[in-house]
Amino acid sequence: MRVFSGIQPTGDKHFGNYSGGFRQYAATQEEADAFFCVVDLHSITVEYDPDDLRERTLDLAAMLFATGLDPERSTVFVQSHVSAHAEAAWLLGSVTSMGELRRMTQFKEKSDQHEFVSAGLFTYPVLMAGDILLYQTDVVPIGDDQRQHLELTRDAAERFNARFGETFTVPEAVYPEEGARVKNLQEPERLMSTTRGAPQGVVRLIDPPDVIRRKFKTAVTDSGREVKHDPKEKAGVSNLIEIMAVATGASIADVESRYDGTGYGQFK
Ligand code: TRP
Repeated sequence: MRVFSGIQPTGDKHFGNYSGGFRQYAATQEEADAFFCVVDLHSITVEYDPDDLRERTLDLAAMLFATGLDPERSTVFVQSHVSAHAEAAWLLGSVTSMGELRRMTQFKEKSDQHEFVSAGLFTYPVLMAGDILLYQTDVVPIGDDQRQHLELTRDAAERFNARFGETFTVPEAVYPEEGARVKNLQEPERLMSTTRGAPQGVVRLIDPPDVIRRKFKTAVTDSGREVKHDPKEKAGVSNLIEIMAVATGASIADVESRYDGTGYGQFK
């Protein structure tokens, strides 16, 4: 089985990226022929500083290795180092319609945020389709926000195959179930993100240990005494329980059962 995923070298990577992404990549390489690509060509679709991007590209590769990708078992590489990605995007551009691209919600969101809306931002999903299809990928581990792009990739593959004969494997997406929706520790009703929400509530992968400890100690909870998983009524505590489950490999029920209900976080 062939697995491929792409990760953008932009934004500071945080616990949510680890939980919903990096952690799964490392698990995947045990059973699959896995490719992980630092997609720097995607990051140039909005304003960027070349030196900064170069540095972030290497930093991201280092983080992927640090969180468990093994270069002996997985292929980890930089998108712009393989010119076939840009070539594939050009070819797939002719089996993708303007209408399909216009319907991409991520394009709509990003084009509202930037003054200069590049043509590259518009055709971004075609480059992503190229990344995936080039490797005859069976499975793409990916965030929930990428569903539409994955559908477009599948449609482009099917259309190409129908017009020119069986060429591409039509990929399936796998979305992380647990730990994919880590919330901001200060604003537990919103997803952890480095672009939105209180920075003290965002645990960055490169934060020093004492900073991480402080962020957890000051996390928003509630006035109740119970430690139980109830995202509606107890968003902060539920988020902490989920993070604990991811970090220790325990189930949510296990984490809950470790607490005695006095609110002091005693282990039974
Ligand atoms: N668009 C993806 C994201 O922002 C990144 C990406 C680019 C990607 N090419 C890919 C993900 C190919 C999976 C497969 O998360």
